[in-house]
Amino acid sequence: MKQKSILAFSGGLDTSVVVKYMQDMHNMDVITVTVDVGQGDDNNKIAKKAKKLGVKKHYNIDAKKEFVTEYIFPAIKANALYQKKYCLATALARPLIAHKVLEIAKKEKVSSLAHGCSGKGNDQVRFDNTLRSGSNLPIIAPIRDMNLDRETELKFANKHGIEIDTVAKKFSIDQNLWGRAIEGGVLENPFNEPPDDAFIWIKTKNLPEKPSYLKIKFVKGVPTEVDGKKLPPVKLIEYINKKAGNNGVGIVDHIEDRVVGIKSREVYETPAAICLIEAHSDLEKMVHTKHETKFKTLVDDEWAWMVYSGLWDDPLRKELDQFIEQSQKRVTGTVKLKLHKGNVRVVGRESKYSLYSHDIATYGKDSTFDQKLAKGFVELWGMQSTEANKF
Ligand code: ARG
Repeated sequence: MKQKSILAFSGGLDTSVVVKYMQDMHNMDVITVTVDVGQGDDNNKIAKKAKKLGVKKHYNIDAKKEFVTEYIFPAIKANALYQKKYCLATALARPLIAHKVLEIAKKEKVSSLAHGCSGKGNDQVRFDNTLRSGSNLPIIAPIRDMNLDRETELKFANKHGIEIDTVAKKFSIDQNLWGRAIEGGVLENPFNEPPDDAFIWIKTKNLPEKPSYLKIKFVKGVPTEVDGKKLPPVKLIEYINKKAGNNGVGIVDHIEDRVVGIKSREVYETPAAICLIEAHSDLEKMVHTKHETKFKTLVDDEWAWMVYSGLWDDPLRKELDQFIEQSQKRVTGTVKLKLHKGNVRVVGRESKYSLYSHDIATYGKDSTFDQKLAKGFVELWGMQSTEANKF
């Protein structure tokens, strides 16, 4: 009897090549699992593709809701932006996909776990670590093991009649509800401006002349209503992606440090992530004390770094989550964003837990803030600095 292996399968170039390699080089039966995290792919088409590649069994799992509630919502609470820019779309999806693979691996009693990651990226770190957190089966990663490059893969795919769509030939894409990552091709020269056809979620031409407003209500850090409508989690993200994308909002272009040390040029379309994180962090500043705000920034940064680096299952990530969860108790309120020609700006916020006090802050004559008290405070505040400057 042939050995069985299980593979997280997207139907793209890498994972299709891996199926063939597993069958031909390792003489194994392959079970494929496609986890739908909002890639927007046609799942029937992927299933057909898997069949055509001769897999033993194919699973399709709809994990969109779980992705939003268990991964994206915690990321919003953590204002998670790796290196201040990247919303972690791919990084958040990988542990979820790997956990689903583990569930089926147990059921199917496979003898190894496979993935289609290269040895140059971050996904290998995320997959390997998450898979190891729940299993000690060997991990096979043919692209990494054989040091395959894209051209060799494309040739191999061609030889074996594996179809690859045209965008995938131009760029390397990974997308889900939280964002679309575009890499490779002309983008590998960091000075090249991304061509318009790299973008499919965000309008880059003929943008509306009039601004649009987006009103987001948060309850304990979780977005629950947009523009006055209660929306279920997946719909809420889709709604914002669409509205912000139509106003040209959500393109990120930056140089990113990968876990393995490579600097890469990354282009993202992440309209909902940008709007939600901007709104959420603004609301936090209204309800948190300055001490909470200062400290939470450190926790948020660490959280994003851990998730980026494939440490979703490390105890520290969960411990940080507990702090973050506790910090969201008063993060309830509404934030108003203005979207216009590629820009997003917070233009209003309100909360029943607001620490902003008009009576204290006003420059008008009714202010309850006693300026005279400030004199002594300022003197003591700067006392040591003043002393030190005497030398
Ligand atoms: N740099 C991002 C990350 O490591 C996105 C990677 C996206 N992958 C791709 N094939 N375009 O999470």
